[in-house]
Amino acid sequence: MNMPEQIPTIQACFETLLLTEIQPGIYLLTINRPKVLNALNTTVLSELAEAAELVDNDSNARVLLITGAGDKSFVAGADITEMSTLTPLEGKAFAERGMAAFRRLEQMKIPVIALVNGYALGGGCELAMSCDFVLASENARFGQPEVSLGITPGFGGSQRLTRLLGRAMAMELLVSGRAMNAQEALQRGLANHVYAQSDLLGEGLALADRISLNSTTAIQMTKQLVQRGQDLDLENGCVMESDLFGLSFATPDRAEGMQAFIENRKPSFV
Ligand code: CAA
Repeated sequence: MNMPEQIPTIQACFETLLLTEIQPGIYLLTINRPKVLNALNTTVLSELAEAAELVDNDSNARVLLITGAGDKSFVAGADITEMSTLTPLEGKAFAERGMAAFRRLEQMKIPVIALVNGYALGGGCELAMSCDFVLASENARFGQPEVSLGITPGFGGSQRLTRLLGRAMAMELLVSGRAMNAQEALQRGLANHVYAQSDLLGEGLALADRISLNSTTAIQMTKQLVQRGQDLDLENGCVMESDLFGLSFATPDRAEGMQAFIENRKPSFV
């Protein structure tokens, strides 16, 4: 994504990422290897995990937006040049590094939104699916082309795509390597919204602003409910929901949120 010039980069310590606090509490993480369409090499994967940790440790953080540098690609996959010389054991370690980074992002306390601004192939599609949800530009392309390289997905694609799209559609995409355009991704529920490329960041920020108005503690609990609930049966999921519902009554945000409603004013959460 092409960045507006006035945005300051507050964290310049990464080799392959740009991390900016684009508005108070709203972070934009840009994968910055545009010459190779933001392909994920070992350094990017390590830095993604570090960036997730850094933002998660900021108690003022509200939302993390993730995108790719340039206007052509979000992430065109794992770095094929790097993978081309790996031994089987090194390949496994590479996959584990990617899995760990994506899991770390998935487990962040705050909502993580992928702004998919072009190709999201292989590791790029897997990264998008590890975010809480996806906003896509009209030129976005989603797919898992690994079989065309003689390998399987390695950063969770076979698992997350199947959970998101169902077995038959995931299987079709995984074995054909066919990429979906933005409209198909929208229709199949992989992308929440599709915008013109020039509007993508603005729409992401508008949504992040809206999220930031709500209680951080309630958002954290809701993320847990949705994420952990996916792997539970309905009965146990509902037990977990009533537990966290009860726990939310112990928070200052519950007192403030309800009092503000009664007094007909906007809440001011801690
Ligand atoms: N790894 C390394 N380099 C890549 C790359 C990748 N995944 N994708 C693109 N590049 C590089 C190209 O080699 C090229 O570099 P040079 O300019 O030095 O030649 C540069 O980025 C621009 O790419 P193209 O010239 O190919 O651009 P294009 O517009 O003609 O095509 C594309 C774009 C269709 C995305 C094409 O680049 C492509 O097919 N890329 C590979 C996509 C892919 O197979 N991804 C899956 C990787 S495997 C994986 O991700 C495994 C896993 O699950 C962990």
